[in-house]
Amino acid sequence: MTTTLIVLAHPEGRSFNGAWAEASRQACLAAGDTVLFTDLERLGFDAVESVRHFAGWPAETPFDPLKAQADASLSQGLPADVSAEIAKLRAADRVIFHFPIWWFAPPAVLKGWLDRVLAHEETHSVEQRFDSGQFRGRSALFCVTTGAQAEESGPDGKEGDIRLLLWPLAYTLRYLGFDVWEPEIIHGVHGYHRDAKRLALESRLSAALAAQGDLIAGLPRRPLLPFNADSDFDAEGRLRPDRPSHTPFIRHPG
Ligand SMILES: Cc1cc2nc3c(=O)[nH]c(=O)nc-3n(C[C@H](O)[C@H](O)[C@H](O)COP(=O)(O)O)c2cc1C
Repeated sequence: MTTTLIVLAHPEGRSFNGAWAEASRQACLAAGDTVLFTDLERLGFDAVESVRHFAGWPAETPFDPLKAQADASLSQGLPADVSAEIAKLRAADRVIFHFPIWWFAPPAVLKGWLDRVLAHEETHSVEQRFDSGQFRGRSALFCVTTGAQAEESGPDGKEGDIRLLLWPLAYTLRYLGFDVWEPEIIHGVHGYHRDAKRLALESRLSAALAAQGDLIAGLPRRPLLPFNADSDFDAEGRLRPDRPSHTPFIRHPG
C-alpha cells in the first residue's frame, strides 16, 4: 500500500495548480493510495522561520535557527504545524509537489515550508544526509507550471533553464535522502491569452488534467534525476576529477 503526500503551494485552490493537485489526489486515490494533502494556503502555513516559533528560546541569546530546531527536535518541542508536516512526510512513500514558478523559483511559501519543516536533528543531521539521509527509498515529483513558453525555459532560453531553476529544490530533497523524479512541467500557463489562443490553452490544460492518472501510474518507470554519490567527493567535499558532473551546480572547475 502506497502513501502519497501532495503539497500544493499556490494561494488559490481554484487555479490551474489547484486543479492539477486535485487531479493528482484523485489519480492516487484511484490507484489505491492513502493520500495526505498539504494545501499551504488553506493551512495558513507560516513560511518564515523565526524565534517566535520557539517559546523556550532565551531572549538574551541571539536566535540560532539550526540550534533552535535541534533543541526542539531533541526535546519534542517542535512547533505543532511543523510536527504535523513531518508526520505526513514520514508516512509518505512519495511526495508530489504542485507549484508555479514565481520569479525564477518556487513560491516563497514552499521555500519556507522547507526551511521550517526539514528541521535539523529531526529530519537530517551531519550523520544522516545525502546517501545516509533518513528518507532513502522515498521519491519526490515536481509538477510545475511556468508562464514562459517551453522555448524560453530551455537551456538557451531567455527565462533561464527551468531544470536549473528547480535544482536547489531537488537537491534539498536529495540531502534528505529522497530520489527525485524528472519534473513534469507545463509551460505557457497564464491568463493573458484571448480567443483562439485562450481556447487552445484551456484544451491543453484539460488534457493535462485528464492525463494525470497515466502520469501517476507511470511513476515507477519514470526516470530519476542523477545525483552524485557521497563517494564521488573527496575529504574536502570536492568532486573527484574522475567522477561525473550531473549538473552545472556541481562541475569540474576549468
Ligand atoms: C509573482 C509572480 C512571479 C512570476 N514569475 C514567473 C517567472 O519567473 N517565470 C515564469 O515562467 N512565470 C512566472 N510567473 C507566471 C506564473 O508561473 C504563472 O502565472 C503560473 O504558472 C500559472 O499557473 P496558475 O494558473 O495555477 O496560477 C509569475 C507569476 C507571479 C504571480
